[in-house]
Amino acid sequence: MRVCVIGTGYVGLVTGACLAHTGHHVICVDNNEQKVKMMKAGQSPIYEPGLSDIIQKASQEDLLEFTTDLAYGVNHGDILFIAVGTPALPTGESDTRYVEAVARGIGSHLEKGYKVIVNKSTVPIGSGDWVRMIVLDGIAERQKASGGGNSISGDEAAAKLGIEFDVVSNPEFLREGSAVYDTFNPDRIVLGGNSDKALSMMEELYQPIVKRKFGEDPSLPPVPVVKTDLSSAEMIKYAANSFLATKISYINEIANICDRVGADVVQVAKGIGLDSRIGTKFLQAGIGWGGSCFPKDVSALIHTSDDYGYDAHLLKAAVDVNKRQRTIAIEKLQHELKILKGKTVGLLGLTFKPDTDDMRDAPALNLIEQLNRLGTKVKAYDPIVSQSGIGQGLSGVVVETSPEQLAYACDALVVVTDWQQFLTLDYAAMAKVMNNPVIIDGRNFLDRKMLQKAGFRYVGIGCS
Ligand code: UDX
Repeated sequence: MRVCVIGTGYVGLVTGACLAHTGHHVICVDNNEQKVKMMKAGQSPIYEPGLSDIIQKASQEDLLEFTTDLAYGVNHGDILFIAVGTPALPTGESDTRYVEAVARGIGSHLEKGYKVIVNKSTVPIGSGDWVRMIVLDGIAERQKASGGGNSISGDEAAAKLGIEFDVVSNPEFLREGSAVYDTFNPDRIVLGGNSDKALSMMEELYQPIVKRKFGEDPSLPPVPVVKTDLSSAEMIKYAANSFLATKISYINEIANICDRVGADVVQVAKGIGLDSRIGTKFLQAGIGWGGSCFPKDVSALIHTSDDYGYDAHLLKAAVDVNKRQRTIAIEKLQHELKILKGKTVGLLGLTFKPDTDDMRDAPALNLIEQLNRLGTKVKAYDPIVSQSGIGQGLSGVVVETSPEQLAYACDALVVVTDWQQFLTLDYAAMAKVMNNPVIIDGRNFLDRKMLQKAGFRYVGIGCS
């Protein structure tokens, strides 16, 4: 099938590249010339395991193309994905101006024929109908500009030009760091809309993935496809992310109680997770959730609830617990070192989670700010940030190039990100060059006994 993906951020680029890999002809459109140039050269502007290979292979097979020309992309695709960012405004509301600009742009370039316009961006509930209206506005504006009369409506202009389209909501559930894997091995595919024609075109598009042709285990049953109305599909995205964020806040709250009563949250999580009604995933206690999705989506859902006069107590509590969780490492450092002024703390990890270079809403940023305020010198080592130079843009922290350099003259280390590489560092050598070998494991993932043997005092979250 012929596909156009507008916006080559995280979601757009992964979706476009993976659909091309499954055999569709995909054109990705972005207005950032620099980025388009890079992708044309087979490079991925984001760090995501496996993505560069897929981009290169699909481009060589002429299945994937990059352009800044929206008209070219819109004319090519039978299915047009809107995959631009919807960042959070200071109020918590989603900023939908990029979606609006793209929808208007699509409207101004649509030609005679039928298209499916897909909302892949996480948009506020109700946006499907709004996108339809903006596309129609774009069509009407073009008709007016070409002398079609000032009073022509979008519907009239579309009818006159023989343009037909339907809007579908198709939320993504990709995790950064495993986005390519998640695309080929989804738990479900959600399609929302009220046109059978549009929904069956979308089902056809996803057939290779539904049949697990590119998945880890092709013998598994087909991927379930959940077909709903537009608003329910939009809500599924918010409800899933808010649930997962709330689940983490829940275990973090239990961790804080465990610390007080002397229980071990790692064992508690195992004990409750084996109950199939609860499940073992997303029960890792630590210094809280961050990234580009959870904080933004939970705030947006709270904001939507407020708009409808409903006070979302539980979601607000999940956010409050998460805010407090970001200070837990500081409390533990104060407990260990007493005075933090004049001390040096080393952060192991900076990104909000492993296998990504993303620092958006990363707990490390709060830690750096709070430690600086308390007069503590902060150093950091991160497998990606230390190598890539992204760290140069960070203030209040010296980014070191090796774990040994990080440890040198530190009064404590804090594990901020659960990078696999941190499991096998030479902790004995690191302990020797520290002023005071204490480690606060903000992710509860290092081996306590190994660290104790290496000479560290080990402090976990909810298991100290
Ligand atoms: C998330 C969702 O998982 C994905 O489905 C959605 O589309 C986008 O948002 P992502 O933000 O990439 O993906 O990361 P994820 O792996 O879900 O982790 C989110 C945050 O929760 C990270 O800060 C992580 O460290 C934290 N986390 C996760 C925990 O603290 N404990 C856990 O048990 C799991």
